Amino acid sequence: MKFFVDTANLEDIKKAHKIGVLSGVTTNPSLVAKEGVKFEDRIAEILQAVSDVESVSAEVTPDALTAEEMITQADELIKINNRDSRITIKLPMTLAGLEATKYLAQKGVKTNVTLIFTVNQALLAARAGATYVSPFLGRLDDISEDGVLLVAKIAELFRVHGLDTQIIAASVRHPDHVTRVALAGAHIATIPFGVIEQLAKHPLTDQGLEKFAADWTKSVK
Ligand code: E4P
Repeated sequence: MKFFVDTANLEDIKKAHKIGVLSGVTTNPSLVAKEGVKFEDRIAEILQAVSDVESVSAEVTPDALTAEEMITQADELIKINNRDSRITIKLPMTLAGLEATKYLAQKGVKTNVTLIFTVNQALLAARAGATYVSPFLGRLDDISEDGVLLVAKIAELFRVHGLDTQIIAASVRHPDHVTRVALAGAHIATIPFGVIEQLAKHPLTDQGLEKFAADWTKSVK
């Protein structure tokens, strides 16, 4: 399973990139709004900051309701950074979003269908030609449904039917989500930087380091 970082914060993206495990970035309207920056400028900054990732998701704005409106926005977004092929158009899981996905897929543009909450939604998006689908596990857990189980079912369905759309486990809230979606067959998890930091941590690692340091200090005296 690959790691994407789920943020529009440039510093967090750079920090995740520096670790050396980053394969992509996802943003959404809420994450961009939090940064108080111009959307297209931030996507360009991200593309320049992380030159070796495979995908940077830029979502059409919530006021684009028809496929035509989404495609018009996508046409502008794909021009960013000299038509950077890593730009991935993130589209909502609606009938219009599927129509736009089909159109963009036929043009060779990468797409990420977002706000997936059922297996059927994932199947529709895959059949429309989506490069990625984003099931939101944390938000399902919030309503007492099993987000990881959804990821496992989508992974099984894609395997059975030989669909090559990749699953991005999204709305990841804690390290246990990461372990469980990896085992469930997600190709990618998109994770807030704070959770990526948590993945590297364990109290026994910290204690072990403290003990090594104390023993070392004693021995060199
Ligand atoms: C995915 O692409 C979304 O940006 C994100 O994972 C949503 O997560 P949230 O439920 O924490 O807002």
